[in-house]
Amino acid sequence: MTSTTPKKVRVPDLALMKQRGERIVMLTAYDATMARLLDRAGIDLLLVGDSLGNVIMGLDTTIPVTLDAMIHHTRAVARGANRALVVADMPFLTYQVSPEQATRNATRLFQEGGAAAVKLEGGRAVADTVRKLTAAGLPVMGHLGLTPQHVHRLGGMRQQARSESAAQRLILDALALEDAGAFAIVLEAIPDTVAEAVTSQLKIPTIGIGAGSQCDGQVLVINDLLNLTFGAPAKFVRHFGDAGALISNAVRAFGADVKAGKYPSDEESYHLPRETKAGLDSVLTRKRAMRR
Ligand code: KIV
Repeated sequence: MTSTTPKKVRVPDLALMKQRGERIVMLTAYDATMARLLDRAGIDLLLVGDSLGNVIMGLDTTIPVTLDAMIHHTRAVARGANRALVVADMPFLTYQVSPEQATRNATRLFQEGGAAAVKLEGGRAVADTVRKLTAAGLPVMGHLGLTPQHVHRLGGMRQQARSESAAQRLILDALALEDAGAFAIVLEAIPDTVAEAVTSQLKIPTIGIGAGSQCDGQVLVINDLLNLTFGAPAKFVRHFGDAGALISNAVRAFGADVKAGKYPSDEESYHLPRETKAGLDSVLTRKRAMRR
C-alpha cells in the first residue's frame, strides 16, 4: 500500500482514503491463517462474511449461519489481523427484529469476536438500527444491491437495480445509510452506472463486488479469488491464483508417496542417539533370538 496509508487501518481512515482517491481493498477471511496472510499482503479490510455458510460450511445460502458461528470465526480472524480492519457480518435475523436486538447481538461480535465494525444488509428498512448502533459506538458498514440474506424474496442470486425505479430506490437507500451513520457501503451485483451514481453522491466510500470499476474499493470472497470454489463462478469473479490446483496436486503427491513407501524419508524421521540405538538394537536382537 502507499506510504500515506496509516499503520493500522481505522474506521475514519476509509473516508480519508475516498477523499484522496485511494482505492480500498477488502477480502473475506474466515480463519487466523488466511487473516495473517491477507494482513501481511496489505489488504485494508478483512470481512468475516456470512458467506462462510457457503464456502466454509458447504451450505446453499447464508440463512442458516448463526451468531455463534460468526463470533467463532471473527475471533480467529481478529487474532490473525494486525493492520487490517476486521468487519464481521451480522447474520440473518440477528438485527432485523429491533434496534435493541441488533445492539445486543452486535455487541457480542465486538466483545467476544474482536470485530472493529459490523456489516448488515438493507437500506431504509435498517436505517434506524444503523443509527442506534453507530450512536452506541459500534461502526456499521451497509450492504445494498444483491443482499444474499434476502435470496428468497429476490428470487435467487441475481443482478439488482436494473430498472430506473430500482436504481432510484437503491440511491435513496444508500443516502439513508450514510445519513444514519454507516461508514461505508458494499454494493453487490448492480450495473456499473448505478454504482457510479451512488459513489458520486456519497461522502462515505462504496466497496463493490460485481458493481463495476467506479466504486471506491473492491471486495471479493477469498475462495473465489483463489479458485477454491466449485461450480461456475459469477461474471465478476477473477481467479488471481489457483490454490485449488495447488492443493489437489500437493495432496495427490502426498498420497502417492505414502502408498509407495517414499514418505517419510530417513531425513524426515527422528533418530535415536548412536549409543541409545546400539543398546536398543542389542535388546531387540536378543528378543528376536528368544522368539525363534
Ligand atoms: O458475506 C460476504 O462474503 C459478503 C461479501 C460478498 C461482500 O457479504
